[in-house]
Amino acid sequence: MIKETRIALKNLGKINPESIDDYISQGGYLAFAEVLEMKPTSVIKEIEDSGLRGRGGAGFPTGIKDRYTTLSCEDCDRYIICNADEGEPGTFKDRIIMENDPHLLIEGMLISAYGIGASKGYIYIRAEYYLSVERVKKAIETACERGYLGKNIMGTYFSFYLEIKLGAGSYLCGEELTLMESLEGKRGYPRIKPPFPAEKGLFGKPTLINNVETLSHIPTIIVKGSKWYTGLGTEKSKGTKIFTISGNVNKPGYYEVELGVSLRSLIYDFAGGMKEGKTFKAALLGGAAGTFVDESMLDTAMAYDSLKEKGATLGSGAIIVLDNDQSVFEVLFSVLNFFKHESCGKCVPCRIGTTQLMLLMNKIKSEADKADILKEIFHQSELMAKSSLCPLGQSPILPVKSSIKYFEKELLTFSA
Ligand SMILES: Cc1cc2nc3c(=O)[nH]c(=O)nc-3n(C[C@H](O)[C@H](O)[C@H](O)COP(=O)(O)O)c2cc1C
Ligand code: SF4
Repeated sequence: MIKETRIALKNLGKINPESIDDYISQGGYLAFAEVLEMKPTSVIKEIEDSGLRGRGGAGFPTGIKDRYTTLSCEDCDRYIICNADEGEPGTFKDRIIMENDPHLLIEGMLISAYGIGASKGYIYIRAEYYLSVERVKKAIETACERGYLGKNIMGTYFSFYLEIKLGAGSYLCGEELTLMESLEGKRGYPRIKPPFPAEKGLFGKPTLINNVETLSHIPTIIVKGSKWYTGLGTEKSKGTKIFTISGNVNKPGYYEVELGVSLRSLIYDFAGGMKEGKTFKAALLGGAAGTFVDESMLDTAMAYDSLKEKGATLGSGAIIVLDNDQSVFEVLFSVLNFFKHESCGKCVPCRIGTTQLMLLMNKIKSEADKADILKEIFHQSELMAKSSLCPLGQSPILPVKSSIKYFEKELLTFSA
């Protein structure tokens, strides 16, 4: 049986998260000390060579993003932001890292900040994550006291200051440019891309934004080397991923496994199989902005490219499992309702489109001729994908298209 390989969760259960000495006893801050002896460009190259890709959802290569952030100007201020908003339904991995190993996240940020030449960083945490906020706050304080944060760290010319900012519960504020608007104290409306954050981000300066899990891989990549890291995962999806499995399984929870593991193994080996001996019917991969799959996908490798080739998404690593007695229609209904609720209303296609989708979803429940309504739902979400201003309005097509692909018959026969 495949076992967990823990990188982002390596210290889970081994240390007292409130003790910096416990973290140091496990080799904590050694990677950062090593980095201070390296050229910033070599740090970025090591991250680039590791093949690490963003764990927040999009899977963009982390080292390339680091390098882009250094390109637009030579001597300007730069920022680093940790995206700890964790708003994607079914995702709860960043919380586990922050609650159990906050110094690992801080060390990852320190290394990336040194690499790109940033002296100021922010961790944007959703306010409902009380314990994460408390633990990260305490970790920042102790790291300051021990001289890992602040001016001229460890007798070098490198200075770095870190601050927590709280999110107020908007899903859209997890989107990188909307998050920056919110961090600047403005209303959480998205900005038009380009320019990308690497060029013009927080307060108009080049900004690196990474997810909590992404940053938590970096200390281990530095200590063990990019070559070691590339030995994990698949050809195009290196390393490990925390999968958060919920729904009708015996052992819902978080599991950190090498990328390339099958969905079958995640459900049956790690999550203990289906509850009450029921049969697997579907999984929603990647949260609301994700895709449905059926049992034909159980043996597909859970990796960025292998899933994309089959029209599915890895996203944030959320897996919501449904058994044969559960309704895909009802899950799709609640996902589309979520988008309607979270639409910021700035652009017409999404503001009207998300409402229209819910009207159609309600109509399909009672009307006899469901085929035309389903076609309209597809057409509406396709229009939204083409014309919405930001990725939120471009997302409903993913669950809509995939539910039709695998479960059209059920959608056409559903009755309330
Ligand atoms: C609507 C929306 C919500 C998002 N929410 C989050 C989030 O809660 N956490 C996160 O890390 N990324 C989220 N993202 C992705 C971010 O925009 C961005 O890609 C990510 O922070 C980049 O970090 P990474 O390269 O380390 O993955 C969201 C994207 C969209 C479109
Ligand atoms: S797509 Fe939706 S969330 Fe994005 S700007 Fe338009 S209305 Fe707002």
